[in-house]
Order: sequence, then C-alpha cells, then structure tokens
Amino acid sequence: MENRIMTSEYLPEDDRDNPLRPKVLSEYIGQNKIKENLSVFISAAKLRKESLDHVLLYGPPGLGKTTLAGIIANEMGVNFRITSGPAIERPGDLAAMLTNLEEGDVLFIDEIHRLSRMVEEILYPAMEDFAIDIVNGKGQGATSIHLPLPHFTLIGATTRAGQLSAPLRDRFGVVLRLEMYSPEELACIVNRSSRILHIDCNQDGSLEIAARARGTPRIANRLLKRVRDFAQIMSGGTITKDAARQALDRLEIDELGLDMVDRRMLESMIKHYDGGPVGLDTIAAVIGEESVTIEDVYEPYLMQLGFLSRTPRGRVVLPAAYNHLGIEYNGQMML
Ligand SMILES: Nc1ncnc2c1ncn2[C@@H]1O[C@H](COP(=O)(O)OP(=O)(O)O)[C@@H](O)[C@H]1O
Ligand SMILES: [Mg+2]
Repeated sequence: MENRIMTSEYLPEDDRDNPLRPKVLSEYIGQNKIKENLSVFISAAKLRKESLDHVLLYGPPGLGKTTLAGIIANEMGVNFRITSGPAIERPGDLAAMLTNLEEGDVLFIDEIHRLSRMVEEILYPAMEDFAIDIVNGKGQGATSIHLPLPHFTLIGATTRAGQLSAPLRDRFGVVLRLEMYSPEELACIVNRSSRILHIDCNQDGSLEIAARARGTPRIANRLLKRVRDFAQIMSGGTITKDAARQALDRLEIDELGLDMVDRRMLESMIKHYDGGPVGLDTIAAVIGEESVTIEDVYEPYLMQLGFLSRTPRGRVVLPAAYNHLGIEYNGQMML
C-alpha cells in the first residue's frame, strides 16, 4: 500500500511549510460556518486584548486542521508552537513547552487523543488556571512548586473526538468539526494551488480533479501535481477535462475518487461476506491495513457516499456501492 495517492494521511511530500497552505482566514476556502465564528472570536479576543479561548478541531485527515490552527495564530499575531500527542512522552516535556510560551501564544497539539494520561493531567490546570504544579521528590519530603503560566491558547486537533477523555474535552471553549468539502470548493482550492504552482489548469480540469478528491483538500492538491505530469506529456501542459480524466483513469482513480484499495475492500466484503456485516478486524486482515487507518482514512468517505454503514454487528456494504461497482444487489442485506 506504499505511496497510496488517495490516502488523506500526511505524506512527506506534503511538507509542512508547503506554499499551498493558506496563511490567513480569507484564503482558507470552504468551512464557512467555522470561519465566520472564528473570525468573531478572534476579533473579540483581540479587542479585549485577551488570549483566544482553547480550540478543539476534529475531523478526518487532510481537511485543514493544522492549516487552520496556523491561521488562528497568524490572525491573532502570536507565536505558533507545534507538537503532537505521541511526541510528548513525559509530563516534564509538556511542562517545559508550557513554561516557554509567551503571553497569547498558540500551542498546537496534533493527535491530541494520543496524549498519555499523566501528560493530560498537567494540561488540566494549565488550560483552566494557567498554572502548573511541579512536584519535587517523593513521599513525605515531596515539595510542590506552583508555576504560573502565560495566558496561552491550546489548539488540539484530532481525527477521533470520541477518544478524548471528558475532562479534556470539557476544557475546550470552542469545539469545531470540519466537514468534507464540496466539489465546487475543492475546485477553488485546485485553482488556487495551480496559480501558486504555475500550473495551467482550466475550470473543467479543476472540476474533474475536484470530483475525484474525496472531499479532501490534501488529496486534491496531490492529484493536481500528479495530473500535471500527464498533462505535460499528453496535452501540451494544460490540464483540461480530458487530460485530467485520462491521467486519473491511468492512476486507477475512478469518477468518485475510489482507488484500487477501496474497490478491493468493498468487493471482498460483497464476495466473501455477502456485503456484511463484517467486523473491522476482518476487513483489516483481508485488505492488509491497520484497523485505525480503515476507520480514519477509508471509511469516512465511503460513508459520506452512502456506500458503507457502521452497524453494531459490523460494516455493511450498501446498495449504492453495488451499483457503482456493477455488481447485482441480491437484497440479502441483514441489518
Ligand atoms: N480550507 C482550505 N483551503 C485551501 N487549502 C486547504 C484548506 N484546507 C486544507 N488545505 C490544503 O490541504 C493540505 C492539508 O491540510 P492540513 O491542514 O494539513 O490537514 P489536517 O491537519 O486536517 O490533516 C494543506 O497543506 C493545504 O494545502
Ligand atoms: Mg494535520
């Protein structure tokens, strides 16, 4: 599964300071409700000369959580410090980061659901009272130092809000769920990216790429770069609808953005398990992927399309998927 184009997960080629990442709210396409609310919160906090309330961003990979966190820091005019749940191993690591913050700074913790419980416990008083208590020594002789912190904003990002502990979730004043993008919004993103990368792509070309990008900006940008190579050879460099189609067909990405792995997963569920219900672990074994990857990366889009549903007894392939795959639906679905 190496180098799967259609994964919405981060790959090294989408490197961090890529020029395609919008820097200000007005360049951030789509997610209109979120943008409207955030711009009010940001203006109000600035007016009161206060730090912004803690923000939790959640949604599938590639929808723009990291980008939005950076934009918030930029719009607030403060430093943007980045870390991630698995990177913070000991409470001391987090304490060091917190005490190094300046007034108003944004601390971004990606994959915040993967923080260890011990680290999380440092975070509670830090978020609530802007202070941490550091314990020195053990047992009777232990002393504790109360350290005040600057007023900072914690921005947490996660693909799985359900896995956050309640005390942590409750300490976020602003909780925002990112939605998948419409093809029109993705076409705007493709247009913007082509301008930045000096790629010649006409409107029909961007719409074709957008339609196959699984509602995900990261995938739209990745497809644009791959299609460019084909266009250069096949149509004198301009990405037209035809050029995009040919390129995406060759990459075996169909009109809905499904690739070989999606199709193999659905087909084997239909062929070997009558369309389900099939347990997640079984699917994982059949297609050779981790269960978490299936849940975070593959399923959100298939569910959005109405191709798959999650039931208490397992995953079920829905009639629309049979139709798309050209397989007759025998109606034996048991829900
Ligand atoms: N709203 C948006 N407008 C334009 N480009 C976007 C938008 N959201 C995401 N992107 C692009 O998609 C890429 C992936 O976004 P990112 O913030 O890394 O996603 P996440 O952190 O949710 O996985 C970014 O590099 C950026 O180029
Ligand atoms: Mg991210």
